[in-house]
Amino acid sequence: MDKLKVVVLGATGLVGQRFVELLADHPFFEIVALTASSKSAGKKYREATRWVLGPYFPEAVRDLEVLETSPEAVRRCGYNVDLVFSALPSEVAKELEPAFAKEGFNVVSNASAMRMFNDVPLVVPEINPDHLHLIHVQRRKRGWKGLIVTNPNCSTIILTLTLKPIVDYAGVEAVHVTTMQAVSGAGFSGVASMAIIDNVIPFIAREEEKIQTESLKILGKLVEDSVKFADIAISASCNRVCVLDGHLESVFVKLKRNADLEELKDALRSFKGLPQELKLPTAPPSPIIVREEEDRPQPRLDREVHKGMSVVVGRLRYGKDGWLKYMVLGNNVVRGAAGNSVLIGELMAKRGFL
Ligand SMILES: NC(=O)c1ccc[n+]([C@@H]2O[C@H](COP(=O)([O-])OP(=O)(O)OC[C@H]3O[C@@H](n4cnc5c(N)ncnc54)[C@H](OP(=O)(O)O)[C@@H]3O)[C@@H](O)[C@H]2O)c1
Repeated sequence: MDKLKVVVLGATGLVGQRFVELLADHPFFEIVALTASSKSAGKKYREATRWVLGPYFPEAVRDLEVLETSPEAVRRCGYNVDLVFSALPSEVAKELEPAFAKEGFNVVSNASAMRMFNDVPLVVPEINPDHLHLIHVQRRKRGWKGLIVTNPNCSTIILTLTLKPIVDYAGVEAVHVTTMQAVSGAGFSGVASMAIIDNVIPFIAREEEKIQTESLKILGKLVEDSVKFADIAISASCNRVCVLDGHLESVFVKLKRNADLEELKDALRSFKGLPQELKLPTAPPSPIIVREEEDRPQPRLDREVHKGMSVVVGRLRYGKDGWLKYMVLGNNVVRGAAGNSVLIGELMAKRGFL
């Protein structure tokens, strides 16, 4: 099969670079254009980008000219574009992504702007691939020739991947989660080194609300043309810590029924979804790794497991109050952003949405 032609919006940023790395040698996709802000447009990709993923730029894109981020500029590149991966800041995405969809482009967005809209799928491919059905609702309602599918917040993806098998096995009434989030989660210029080195910042703007609401949509059920949100009380407390990549989360879960710890571990370990069934190229063999050591998971040691696409769970135990407790670690820029989006793209390609 001919490769599908893809474009990365916001390709010079931290998530954009991960997209470029994942797509540079992809079996389904071929990058035909990269965009960024007007300060980068017109430069070669290697001149416009502070590449943070090792010593060299991928050969295939290093000399590509960075385009302005507009449907017209992308049209002018002369290719029939099948899919657009967006790593734009939310306030920019709010205006630009609908403009792309209106002009006929299929967009997978990392921005929060449209995630909670009723007609916009918010997808973790192992959990709710059926929510892609909302694309039909979106097209009917908005009259777009293109579409927008959204990638959830990074901490939310990591949390919900572990909640899904627990919900299915024992039911969940309530969740308390405290996050320790890496600095890359705020983008290249997001947190000043003078603010974060030797420090923990006990606040991340709008992050707690995103975890508390997006999780309920992802774990919700598709009923006809809408999603019925999951009935779980989720409470989050978010912190920025001095780690480059990898969000660690301390999770407390009130189960609906008593469940044996070993059986819960088995449910987590054996969890698989449609991406594994379809053998999608970016799908990890096991989305959840369970470790038995008392001091795992750790960001530096566990963030690259299965190329950053699996989350790592450890310290699964019960507290005296009967709540289940565990730690989970996920790579925020791969599974939490570009990797999950590429997996969505692969799923859309396989399921005939492109
Ligand atoms: N980092 C994470 O862990 C993470 C996880 C999940 C979701 N996200 C989301 O992913 C998106 C990108 O995050 P990031 O961390 O990669 O941010 P970033 O490092 O700040 O990169 C932002 C990108 O957007 C471009 N851009 C900025 N303003 C623009 C404008 N007015 N018009 C066109 N392009 C513009 C930048 O281009 P220039 O280089 O030319 O300025 C750059 O390519 C955000 O919506 C973020 O919330 C991030």
